[in-house]
Amino acid sequence: MTETTDPTVHITPVRGAGRRGVDSALGERIEETLGVLRRIEAEYAPAALASSFSAEDMVLTDLIQRHTPDIGIFTLDTGRLNEETYALQQQVRERYGRRVRTVFPEPEDVEAFIERYGVNGFYDSIAARQACCHARKVAPLERALTGLSAWLTGMRREQAVTRQELPFQEHDAGHGIEKFNPLAAWREEEVWQYLRTFDVPYNALYDQGYRSIGCAPCTRPVAVGEDIRAGRWWWEDPERKECGLHTARQRRSG
Ligand code: ADX
Ligand code: SF4
Repeated sequence: MTETTDPTVHITPVRGAGRRGVDSALGERIEETLGVLRRIEAEYAPAALASSFSAEDMVLTDLIQRHTPDIGIFTLDTGRLNEETYALQQQVRERYGRRVRTVFPEPEDVEAFIERYGVNGFYDSIAARQACCHARKVAPLERALTGLSAWLTGMRREQAVTRQELPFQEHDAGHGIEKFNPLAAWREEEVWQYLRTFDVPYNALYDQGYRSIGCAPCTRPVAVGEDIRAGRWWWEDPERKECGLHTARQRRSG
């Protein structure tokens, strides 16, 4: 992995780098994040992490597993994920002995999308893309959050223009619960430093040039110097590239 502070430089992880001493800056980041996780576990139970098996979600999975195991983990399986993502989900089960709850879309929602737009109709218009994301992610998220007091994401401010103001905690008014972004302030290199230091498994797509993990037909590797999320819905305007998971009415609460 290239050690760099320039987020525009492509950062490639190194397999089997193994566990090293924790760098003090990373140590501080971890402590700060653990403070948030412990508060969530104590004050917002039941709470759960939404995991797409991205590098960020693996940092949180590892921290939760070691320190705050009462926080649950779920994934929204859109039915269009990469094989590499399923492989990592299986690896998490084997490595941590942890069941990640899978939430699928309602079959009739997916069938209605295909009927109207075609199986790959999401390339044709923003409306079609949003309809697919709604059926496969947004509606299932509603079900996943039912009964929870809070949910957690792996979002970081650095990831996109739409995320520059991302708070650690906000009230998700759309779902009526708290939402936490414990890695909001983490930099990309800190994420990879954590994964290397604690020998955490990561999605093999990163070794193929991906820097963001999504559905297979809507995500591609990015070139050196390109934006982190340039490979997501690459045919759309960067200012509007959110799938709807994170655009429900939200207000900063911490
Ligand atoms: S997205 O809105 O564009 O898809 P992104 O891929 O950057 O979001 O992921 C941000 C966070 O949203 C992840 O760290 C994770 O918490 C959550 N997330 C995204 N996709 C999924 C998914 N398929 N299942 C569960 N959580 C997800
Ligand atoms: Fe559908 Fe693509 Fe959205 Fe996945 S990312 S739900 S395949 S439009």
